[in-house]
Amino acid sequence: MDKKWWKEAVVYQIYPRSFQDSNGDGIGDLKGITSRLDYLQELGIDAVWLSPHYKSPNDDNGYDISDYRGIMEEFGTMEDFDEMQEEMHKRGIRLIVDLVVNHSSDEHKWFVESRKSKDNPYRDYYMWSDGKDGKEPNNWTSRFSGSAWEYDENTDQYYLHIFSKKQPDLNWENPVVRDEVYDIMDFWMQKGVDGFRLDVASMYSKTPGLPDGKTDRANIGEEHYQNGPRIHEFFNEMNQKVMSKYKDMMTVGETSAVTVEEAKKYAAADGSEMSMVFQFEHVTMEYINGDKFNLRPFDLVAFKKIMSKWQTELEGLAWNSLYLANHDQPRSVSRWGDDKKYRKESAKMLYTMIMTMQGTPYIYQGEELGMTNVKYDSIEDYQDIQIRNAWDDRVVNGNANPDELMKAIEYIGRDNARTPMQWDDSANGGFTTGKPWLKMNENYREINAAESRADSDSIFHYMQKLIQQRHKYDVAVYGSFCEYDKENPDLYVYTRQLGEQKMLVVLNFTKEEQKFTLPKEIEVKKSELYISNYENDGTMEDKMLRPYEAIAYLYV
Ligand code: GLC
Ligand code: CA
Repeated sequence: MDKKWWKEAVVYQIYPRSFQDSNGDGIGDLKGITSRLDYLQELGIDAVWLSPHYKSPNDDNGYDISDYRGIMEEFGTMEDFDEMQEEMHKRGIRLIVDLVVNHSSDEHKWFVESRKSKDNPYRDYYMWSDGKDGKEPNNWTSRFSGSAWEYDENTDQYYLHIFSKKQPDLNWENPVVRDEVYDIMDFWMQKGVDGFRLDVASMYSKTPGLPDGKTDRANIGEEHYQNGPRIHEFFNEMNQKVMSKYKDMMTVGETSAVTVEEAKKYAAADGSEMSMVFQFEHVTMEYINGDKFNLRPFDLVAFKKIMSKWQTELEGLAWNSLYLANHDQPRSVSRWGDDKKYRKESAKMLYTMIMTMQGTPYIYQGEELGMTNVKYDSIEDYQDIQIRNAWDDRVVNGNANPDELMKAIEYIGRDNARTPMQWDDSANGGFTTGKPWLKMNENYREINAAESRADSDSIFHYMQKLIQQRHKYDVAVYGSFCEYDKENPDLYVYTRQLGEQKMLVVLNFTKEEQKFTLPKEIEVKKSELYISNYENDGTMEDKMLRPYEAIAYLYV
């Protein structure tokens, strides 16, 4: 067992646009973040992952970067950044910044040059291709609807964009591009950041020749750019050129479509690539043919199977990231819990799971308050490019049923997570004195940080306790994992073990009472309560679990 700070850390994700506005323009900013660091310290987290803070025209809220060394004007200045970083470090909070280098903005100077002519020195920074029979070079689709290719009249060629047409894909085959990326990483490391979250890190390498993709799925072409042929070579190189220079650096790759086999390489224990990756199986299991707006019902047994598989199969070989929500996912309590009657109980139950598994837990802003999905009156209220494009593509220009698509958006749409932080019950939840860039969730009057901090039984205080316990007991971090009663459709039951120290976790995923029977294989000499979201003592025995009850015991 190789100990590392980032294995023991709890990471808190900040989506700067929606965290705290400091100047009344309705947009969160860096000074706003700095003003809320005491709150994060009180919660007890160890590191912040900051969604992109770079200069950007905001076609995709900063995931389209036009200057990798500049600060988004709406967020403030480099001085504001330095101050924020310094204040974090003073409080013992490390800073992980987002690095978006599968693509840049089309307004980045590289692309502005690149599109000028076929012989421009920056031409090969991007993926340009001739059309085929007067059409796109292949059948790949953009993850934000439509073709993944955009025609550029100026040079009579197409460029690839797996995301929006304002996010042209960088050409990772070009070693000059890779060196540019390593320089950018050095720049921020030298400024003092503690690592990176690498955006769509599994997509840098594309199959040579860019062949057509299979058409039985929503993201056509995916098999030619997910975990592509040179991807591990690229990460090995990045590791040698960057990671190896900075001893304590943490890297986490966003790797949708990653398999256990691939993750063992990306997040290998020998430290040859990244520290860890985000797997996506548990957040995409409901997608039919990979289409996020076409969903099958949730199935707990299947969900458990996925979670447990990642726990056992990476054991000793690679390190997990643990998450239920982020800026691309809906609110966890609305998705897997009950955001009405049992909001508190179910939110606590869900994070009991995340915080008692092997891997590094991530808490997305507002999850510690049990913030919920939003319900808007009209499609016009949504700002997310993925939602807007899907609507135009399927309803305005297609024949999708608007009510059905709206239902899917309300369940899974990204804006659910992007509504501004709910700090208190004053106008706009204390997020801004102006007009929020994205409409607030109306429930900020009841669900907010001030209320949560005042209530000793709140989700906030429970999360605080979960973090403290994890810091205290190595078994929660490093212990090996074993699941019981796998076919149980209502309960998730597992143990963790590190040497003599053992932990049993029992989670009721339903709003009904459920009978728990202590597995026969488990022998107990002595036990004590680790945490629970209801009144409980430390006696490990058969019992009736209350709605969304979660209990974790320590035992020997
Ligand atoms: C990642 C980001 C998402 C963004 C996309 C394109 O999935 O998390 O927000 O839209 O990459 O950069
Ligand atoms: Ca602002």
